[in-house]
Amino acid sequence: MNVTFRQLKVFEAVARHLSYTRAASELYLTQPAVSMQIKQLEEVVGLPLFEQIGKRVFLTDAGSELHRYARNISQQLDEAREVLEEMKGIQRGRLNISVATTAIYFAPTLLGAFHKRYPGIGVSMDVANRETLLQQLENNEIDMAIMGQPPEELNMVADAFLYNPLVVIAPPDHPLARQKNIDPVRLADEVFVLREPGSGTRSAAEKFFSRRGVQLRTAMVMSSLEAIKQAVQASLGLAIVSTHTIKQELELGRLVVLDIKTLPIQRQWYLVHREDKRLSVVAQSFKDFMLAEASKLLS
Ligand code: PGA
Repeated sequence: MNVTFRQLKVFEAVARHLSYTRAASELYLTQPAVSMQIKQLEEVVGLPLFEQIGKRVFLTDAGSELHRYARNISQQLDEAREVLEEMKGIQRGRLNISVATTAIYFAPTLLGAFHKRYPGIGVSMDVANRETLLQQLENNEIDMAIMGQPPEELNMVADAFLYNPLVVIAPPDHPLARQKNIDPVRLADEVFVLREPGSGTRSAAEKFFSRRGVQLRTAMVMSSLEAIKQAVQASLGLAIVSTHTIKQELELGRLVVLDIKTLPIQRQWYLVHREDKRLSVVAQSFKDFMLAEASKLLS
């Protein structure tokens, strides 16, 4: 059946209005042009689609049947147009995210893969500690954040996408480095190089150890993970960090992970945005990408 989209479109309008005149004015056509299209369509189909009784137009059985299909086809075309428009949006959009300080050790890898898939998207990535991320979300300054613990506030959507185990690190020559199955209580005798207040890692570690009756003693406070790792290597104290941050130092034998009972502290990385945030096409694609690909890309 050699029916054109144009014929179906005209037919659908006449069938919906049951009027050639109204269909013509909706489609910006003359009434004879509409009649001509319908006549041609009836010839192709081989059946009458309308019948006229007096001044009123009715659909024949064949017309009703074809109307059902024509409606579906026109809905599908609208849908296809929307999807293609969205794809144009993806090619040009911009993504605004903030990531927790610790996440700099893996976020660029994920953004690199995302960028490869959607090269036209510009990305702006801010790095801040947990407390700052919460403020940025609260002020609606960013599309979404990557953080190590979902906010307690109910008006946020948080999706876990990756494990984030926290461990205690020490220099290789530390007396605890060769011991196995160390009781966490033993850490009360040690001093720590801790992250700044407001750090998610710090608050998770303090909660974890205080539940086991251990108050972490602070030797120094540093907001930079690179500085913390240097300080531990220089034997200024132990530190509690995410395993994402120490791959190189472990490979090079510059740091060791202490074998402490009940550790690692099991945490996860979350993609977080405001519940009332209308995600842009780009932000939604980034979210879909992260939830589907992140753990595969970093395994
Ligand atoms: P932080 O956050 O870098 O602020 O410690 C990461 C986390 O919550 O694990």
